[in-house]
Amino acid sequence: MSDDAVAVIECLLTIRSFNDHRELDENDLPPRFRTIFWSDDGIERPLPATESVIEAAAGVAEPWEAVQELMFTDRDSFTQSITITDSEMATEWFLARVDPDLVRSNPTLAYVFEDEAPFELDYESARESNRPIQADRVWIDTLLAEYFDEDDEEMLDLVKVHAPEEVRITMDDLVLTADQEEEISKIATAIEHRNYLASIGLHEIGKLLFVGPPGTGKTSVARAIAQDLDLPVVEVRLSMITSQYLGETAKNVDKTFEVAKRLSPCILFIDEFDFVAKTRRSDEHAALKRAVNTLLKSIDDISLIDHDVLLIGATNHPDQLDAAAWRRFDEIVNFPKPDESMRADILRVITEEMDIEGFDPDALAAETNGFTGSDLRLVLREAVLNALVEDRRTLTQEDLLNAVEDFHERDNLRELDTLEADPDAIVAGGGDLAGHDH
Ligand SMILES: Nc1ncnc2c1ncn2[C@@H]1O[C@H](COP(=O)(O)OP(=O)(O)O)[C@@H](O)[C@H]1O
Ligand SMILES: [Mg+2]
Repeated sequence: MSDDAVAVIECLLTIRSFNDHRELDENDLPPRFRTIFWSDDGIERPLPATESVIEAAAGVAEPWEAVQELMFTDRDSFTQSITITDSEMATEWFLARVDPDLVRSNPTLAYVFEDEAPFELDYESARESNRPIQADRVWIDTLLAEYFDEDDEEMLDLVKVHAPEEVRITMDDLVLTADQEEEISKIATAIEHRNYLASIGLHEIGKLLFVGPPGTGKTSVARAIAQDLDLPVVEVRLSMITSQYLGETAKNVDKTFEVAKRLSPCILFIDEFDFVAKTRRSDEHAALKRAVNTLLKSIDDISLIDHDVLLIGATNHPDQLDAAAWRRFDEIVNFPKPDESMRADILRVITEEMDIEGFDPDALAAETNGFTGSDLRLVLREAVLNALVEDRRTLTQEDLLNAVEDFHERDNLRELDTLEADPDAIVAGGGDLAGHDH
């Protein structure tokens, strides 16, 4: 009962303080409250203190029951709201019981209690530790709905926005080369010091191009950076943008960048960047050319320093990129196929939750020359499924070696089947291979 009471009082005090202090904005509300108070027009004062709102915000099923015995609470049965009748008493009661870390992650309360809390409390750091509203799912959805109406539904399928809370992959899940680690920490530092960089006029920073074969972790790293820096990530695949609905494409490219700017700080991840170069070379549809030109111009115009948008391009075919495309990125990050020791590390990471008898990642790494991280994942999946078919949940090293063997065979088939390494060709013409493809 006491925990519930503290949660309800925290909610009530937050509502009251936020309503009283107009200088506070939506980034002063912790995400757990913000989401509940969100409406299509944003966060509007006064925040209501109705029982249903408090039930959702505090996560307490019967909020009034939880606090009715306290001396300083009252219930208005007409509006079904809970009120605090004695602010001073409520504050004292609350600060004596609450977990200090909870208040440290609630900027509104940190703001009003900074001086009276019996524990260390600092508004600035509370605000810093709070995720910006741009990272909330509700905020993202409102923004997308505003920019892309029903006519643009296709576009919404092509632009995927992930809130950081939804990104499951973290840096710890990825095995990186020293070079990759260095580039990533450089960019994190640049983001941290972007005001300084702007003040000395350094604007040409914050556009990365990830190059390397499929399955080497380009998409995963972009998402993990987002997760690590607590930023939403806008993902666009160029081939998709330009494949259909040509007439509207240039306009939609514009909107995509507009969304990224509105979402900022955020990451804009443009996959299949080589598509640009391809399009420029051939004599494609004029509308498509226009779209690509719009895209290149938008890339020139967007900046980490001025707009807080980190641009990451990715390509599986760096050889197809022309100088005009290369020139637009200030850092190229190479994603090679992993070497033997990286493969062993990747195997260790991806098997972390699994039970494997006689597990020897180094021996497996030696047998998997040329495999990417994605290939190793597929190998593991095969081994797990094969064992499940035999009703086993504990794998053996033998299972893994067999799965590697199968994978080699499959790979040989693939090379016979498709001379041009076009993944679509494999799916379309590869017969029974199609079912195995990622
Ligand atoms: N270096 C790596 N460390 C850990 N996992 C990896 C690595 N490279 C690839 N993977 C895994 O392989 C899968 C495909 O990776 P992805 O990021 O989609 O590759 P890409 O975008 O380069 O095609 C993901 O599940 C990813 O976690
Ligand atoms: Mg990818």
